[in-house]
Amino acid sequence: MRIGILNSGGDCPGLNAVIHGVVGAADQLGWEVIGFRDGFEGLLPPGDYKVLKPKDTIGILKMGGTILGTTNKGHFAAKVGKGDVAEVSEMIIAKAKRTMDQLGIEALVIVGGDGSLTTGLQLYRAGWPIVGVPKTIDNDLSATAMTFGFDSAVTTVVDGLDRLHTTAESHKRVMVLEVMGRHAGWIALWGGIAGGANVILLPEVPFSLEKVSDFIKQRDAQGHHSTLVVVAEGAKLPDGDLVTLSGNAGGEIRLGGIGECVAKRLEALTGKDTRACTLGHLQRGGAPTALDRILGVRFGVMAVKLAQEGAFGRMVSYQAYHVDSVPIEEAVNKLRLVEPDGELVQAAKAVGICLGD
Ligand code: F6P
Repeated sequence: MRIGILNSGGDCPGLNAVIHGVVGAADQLGWEVIGFRDGFEGLLPPGDYKVLKPKDTIGILKMGGTILGTTNKGHFAAKVGKGDVAEVSEMIIAKAKRTMDQLGIEALVIVGGDGSLTTGLQLYRAGWPIVGVPKTIDNDLSATAMTFGFDSAVTTVVDGLDRLHTTAESHKRVMVLEVMGRHAGWIALWGGIAGGANVILLPEVPFSLEKVSDFIKQRDAQGHHSTLVVVAEGAKLPDGDLVTLSGNAGGEIRLGGIGECVAKRLEALTGKDTRACTLGHLQRGGAPTALDRILGVRFGVMAVKLAQEGAFGRMVSYQAYHVDSVPIEEAVNKLRLVEPDGELVQAAKAVGICLGD
């Protein structure tokens, strides 16, 4: 048997661990693995791919990025604007299918987030043998408790906060750290709690900057002259909308800039020296954490098992320390967001973190 693998959308720490898992498990079955380059684009004739043997994956487990390359643009982007779905054209699908048939690919493992798995679902509905593997640092996919890449991104946020802490204290400043996560606040909330942030502003919890300012003044009065604020890139300004950059990210609007806006307003409201810092793509690059490596390998192994069982149209899913699978449609088109009154938000509040609500 010959199977294909591609990763699509933004890169993410742990992608190479999935490739390692797929190639290792497939080799045990005597199967051959074809890795398509640059996401779905590698499927377009004449096909851009390489045969992946276990020797090709030696040492990749610890590497960030992906040895296959990826793109969140191109002929297969399934998302437009603020997450609306766009269909891939029939002509493009027919062209890509020719490559699949010529190579004799009997299962195609798609490692992707919401957008790429939406494309995967369309291909499955068109009769393709698709197996999905959830990938995103944003951790916003439904039907899986966790995606690989998230833990690495959170670890980078924590490292950033540890560093900001000392400079904020030395200068008695307010430091605002903008983090990724698109429309979900998972990275901000996990990173903020673990990194000792004093304020966390989320897309899911409407906030008032006056309340944040009062909180900072109160801290000052209590002798805490520095404050660490984490703001999710997808948080909305109280009197406005999302803050965006020009261009698009994977067909969707590019979020960014809210950190600067929040810092300016807080400086005006509190009178305190305030600086903004944007962590940006540092959260996506670099070596995956041990957790993301293990998740990646297990997800890859499960993807091969699903292919072996002919369980197409399904996505690997992580639930309560167990790796299983769900229909792809359960995972896409509905983002998994932070529950505003959930246990995690309550825990943040219980330790004195201000959410500005
Ligand atoms: O979905 C992952 C993610 O890193 C988001 O957190 C972020 O908004 C976006 O991708 C950035 O995309 P790009 O790499 O195209 O700037």
